[in-house]
Amino acid sequence: MSIEVRPAHIGDLEVITAIYADAVLHGTASYELEPPTLQEMESRYAALAAGDFPYLVAELDGRLVGYAYAGPFRPRPAYRFIVENSVYVEPEAKGQGVGIALLRKLVAEAEALGFRQMIAVIGDGSPESPSVRLHLRAGFRHCGQLQGSGYKQGRWLDTTFMQLPMNGGSSTPPDGCSMPERRFRGTLRPRLG
Ligand SMILES: CC(C)(COP(=O)(O)OP(=O)(O)OC[C@H]1O[C@@H](n2cnc3c(N)ncnc32)[C@H](O)[C@@H]1OP(=O)(O)O)[C@@H](O)C(=O)NCCC(=O)NCCS
Repeated sequence: MSIEVRPAHIGDLEVITAIYADAVLHGTASYELEPPTLQEMESRYAALAAGDFPYLVAELDGRLVGYAYAGPFRPRPAYRFIVENSVYVEPEAKGQGVGIALLRKLVAEAEALGFRQMIAVIGDGSPESPSVRLHLRAGFRHCGQLQGSGYKQGRWLDTTFMQLPMNGGSSTPPDGCSMPERRFRGTLRPRLG
């Protein structure tokens, strides 16, 4: 069994849309109630790519079975040094190390760009939830919970927040050469291609 994590391309979006649709319809990790169309998923991908945010896919023995991305946590600029993550693995491929491989690579890429915290906003985040377990395994710690904050599949859901400091977290001032700061200052060169 081999797991390869690589950058996502626009041509991956059909499979990504199907993986996410299954999670929206059958799970409580996402608070979306209707699966987004391929076109909508392509436009979300394009927005992240335009902002140079990492978007990865994982192949298990050559088959695309999962994806992960990091995007803005909230749009107001004081939040610019933190990113929120998303990780999804198709049902048949779960439990084989794909999720942790995606999350570790995502953290490495976000860290290389100069971000300071990665935030996981975990829908239906009970202590035994696979997502909470995955994030604990990757070194995230709990940082809060919003109780009764979602309603899906006929029940109220608690939303758990977890975070992972990167690049020293809040222990040092922002780095003026980091991607988020250069983008904020308008000195980031547009990506070619
Ligand atoms: C959460 C999710 C991405 C995990 O993906 P995965 O490929 O199954 O996870 P891995 O096999 O890499 O497991 C990594 C670690 O996570 C934990 N974990 C994952 N699934 C678990 C489960 N069902 N029960 C307990 N622990 C689990 C374990 O600690 C595991 O490490 P270990 O096997 O060495 O103990 C996957 O279950 C998923 O797509 N869930 C639906 C969507 C979701 O919740 N996404 C996260 C939203 S941010």
